[in-house]
Amino acid sequence: MEKRLSKRALSLKASPIQELSHLAQRCNAINLAEGFPDFPAPPAIKDAAIAAIRADFNQYRHVQAICDYLAYTLKLTQGLDVDPKKNIAICCGQSEAFAAAILAVVDEGDEVLLLDPAYETYEACITMAGGTPVYVALNPPCWTLELEKLILAFTPRTKAIVLNSPHNPTGKVFSKDELTVIAELCCRMHCIAITDEVYEHITFGSAVHISLASLPGMLERTIITSSISKTYSVTGWRVGWAIAPVEIASAIRNIHVKLTDSAPAPFQEAALTALQSVPEYFESLRMEYNERRDFMVDLLNRVGFKVHFKPQGAVFVFAELPETCAMSDVEYVAKLITVAGIAAVPGCGFFHTREKLSRQESSQSILDPVSRPESMGWCEGSHTLKDYRNRYIRFAYCKSKATLMAAADKLNKCNGLLVLHEI
Ligand SMILES: Cc1ncc(COP(=O)(O)O)c(C=O)c1O
Repeated sequence: MEKRLSKRALSLKASPIQELSHLAQRCNAINLAEGFPDFPAPPAIKDAAIAAIRADFNQYRHVQAICDYLAYTLKLTQGLDVDPKKNIAICCGQSEAFAAAILAVVDEGDEVLLLDPAYETYEACITMAGGTPVYVALNPPCWTLELEKLILAFTPRTKAIVLNSPHNPTGKVFSKDELTVIAELCCRMHCIAITDEVYEHITFGSAVHISLASLPGMLERTIITSSISKTYSVTGWRVGWAIAPVEIASAIRNIHVKLTDSAPAPFQEAALTALQSVPEYFESLRMEYNERRDFMVDLLNRVGFKVHFKPQGAVFVFAELPETCAMSDVEYVAKLITVAGIAAVPGCGFFHTREKLSRQESSQSILDPVSRPESMGWCEGSHTLKDYRNRYIRFAYCKSKATLMAAADKLNKCNGLLVLHEI
């Protein structure tokens, strides 16, 4: 039967996360695994969707007013000037916008830089386009970006870099200094940046979301992708966008039309209402999530996890198993589901293996002719680096307070889930 499948299809393997999702369903576990909210969307935007269906917006559709509004807010929040008619493509969520962006700029043999750990779908899009993902490991525990590592990753084949900020799974929000370093390298190396900004409105404390496109020289080489999914708790509505230089935006629009024709019509109408939310909406969104984050960080610390890095944004805590726990992340999550009745995601799904990383199999850095793979996090002898990829668990806190309380109750009843200390 496998003979009928293409090499591309065969290259896409189910992750251990999917198996654990099935286990979680069978055990009826509380879902802290997936990054979708389990609380209602704002009533006004639900009403807008209902009204759009009643008004028979049932056919393929392009709601130009979404582009107009996005251009207006991009100017307001990031100081960027884009033409709503030429620079913006509406897509089916960030996922399709990202896939279309990759298809628009990546050819066979092109390399695309990714920061590790990374959201799972980037790699699949890049390889399906014939490109090669090249990973640059962020340094735990605070997921800092090392300039030297990044420089070493560039080669003459580097076509693009992907930047996800606020970051899934760590909750890191890249600082202005880090973005400046990335921007300078992109300009120097004539590299395109593809950003994933789906968590742009979910930041905490002094962390501020800055789009990489707003750095000097970057607007002309950046494809911004984002969506309404997370900001308005509507991950199933599938409305997102890409904002890019004219010829790239036009290519993305063409690819989008060939793939799906249009994002769901009634939800585009409702997206327009959503995007026009008052500033107080975004303020209360941040406050609500801030509370949930603090709750989750406290809970995980109390039951024995090591949370070195307090998330600055997004909706996840990436917590480390203590040394006393002999289980791997996958084993631990299996226990968490069956013993405590809570589902989370083993971190290994976000990290990438040595084989995939190997710069030696790929072309050599042009900025430093001496390739130094050990400095990039895939050296055989580097035990810390080898090990940390199996020591993290991702907990999503974009859940109702009732769900979070129930999860806390279950963890506490298991006396802090003693499996943490079980050998
Ligand atoms: C970093 C990141 N990007 C994109 C998405 C998906 O966005 P969309 O629903 O707009 O396709 C997710 C969903 O979990 C995500 O975590």
